[in-house]
Amino acid sequence: MDSLPSTNQYLKEHSDLQDGTVVVVSEQTCGRGRFSSVWLDHPGILKFSVLLKNMKDPTSVTLLAALAVASAIEEFVPLQADIKWTNDILINNSKVCGILCEGVLKRDGFSVICGIGINVNTPKDFFETNGLLYADSLFSLSGKEISQQDLLYAILNRLEPLLEQGFLSIREEYKSRCITIGSQIKVFYHDKEVVAKALDVDEQGWLVCENKNGRFTVNSGEVRVRGLMGYT
Ligand code: BTN
Repeated sequence: MDSLPSTNQYLKEHSDLQDGTVVVVSEQTCGRGRFSSVWLDHPGILKFSVLLKNMKDPTSVTLLAALAVASAIEEFVPLQADIKWTNDILINNSKVCGILCEGVLKRDGFSVICGIGINVNTPKDFFETNGLLYADSLFSLSGKEISQQDLLYAILNRLEPLLEQGFLSIREEYKSRCITIGSQIKVFYHDKEVVAKALDVDEQGWLVCENKNGRFTVNSGEVRVRGLMGYT
């Protein structure tokens, strides 16, 4: 489509569409990120959402999508794509992709809408002008202009089998890409901020953390995680 306020919002309102429907737009006028943040638009950003119905494990979709995006990106640029638990893809510690999964319950059942925004050919000054200190694009990092359509197909081709397999069978691969593990982090939980070390991602995809008060696990729906020194 040419333009929509938000691809996630569109699929929320049209969740009666077929399972697997993908909505891609050239322009998004009211894109949203996690925790009600604004997702700014630029023609160099690939933005799309996928409608997934009857998922056995809806909470794993973000993790599976992150893995699909990270490995697809590496097909196009000779750089390592890391995952910041749960839903950001980083290259050289800069965010190149964000994922927003939302659930919608209607009469025909429960659907997950997986929205993905990737800074593909966005120029560096877009991030500077908008004060996005931790963001960068594949183009700015690699010097290569990439076809958004080719990248989209590469992601969808990876996502489909991953959704079939489920998180347990890809957990080790997810963990090997997850730079949060082993880091000192700040966990923002409602109005509280807790400092801890991230130890692991458990079988449900929750982050296992430890601090002087002991071990605890957090689920991505509830918390934001930041590094002590910066974004990671
Ligand atoms: C985040 O990092 O906070 C998640 C950003 C998700 C942005 C994408 S762009 C396509 C889809 N439509 C939206 O309104 N948001 C997601």
